[in-house]
Amino acid sequence: MIHILSIAAGFGAVLMVTLRIFELAGTDRTMAETERRYIGWVWGALLVLLLSGLGLIIGEPVRELINPIFWIKVVLIVLAVIVSLVFHGKVMRRLAGGGAVTGGIKAGSIFIIILWCVIMLCGRWIAYAPV
Ligand code: HEM
Repeated sequence: MIHILSIAAGFGAVLMVTLRIFELAGTDRTMAETERRYIGWVWGALLVLLLSGLGLIIGEPVRELINPIFWIKVVLIVLAVIVSLVFHGKVMRRLAGGGAVTGGIKAGSIFIIILWCVIMLCGRWIAYAPV
């Protein structure tokens, strides 16, 4: 339950930042305010996901550790963390400083959303993958 609620918090925050980049929500806030408002939720949720995920592994270690979908999910999570570090560290800081939203930045924010969706799919798929 904690794992799923953290997904809601983290993915919700990622969606809000992306909607602001596309000027579809939160346009009464500056990019800097939007980033300040949601960044803690993204990293906080990922931390709770990591801790609750470790709990799930300890609960059923064999089911998880021999499951190929679990390992695909782990690789995608590492990728998502690296991409998010760059996106929030460099890109959002540039936007918060008044930089323009480019097509590349829009594509990057959509890529992060797709990554979250695929990770969610993998998380659910673990239960059905033949091992
Ligand atoms: C950060 C490290 C993470 C670890 C170690 C981890 C680990 C796990 C484990 C062991 C399960 C149980 C799978 C099973 O046996 O059925 C699980 C379920 C799940 N995880 Fe994660 N997870 C992590 C992060 C994430 C993230 C970032 C997301 C979403 C973006 C996510 C989405 C899910 C989903 C949707 C489920 C299925 C829950 C269910 O309906 O039973 N996980 N995770």
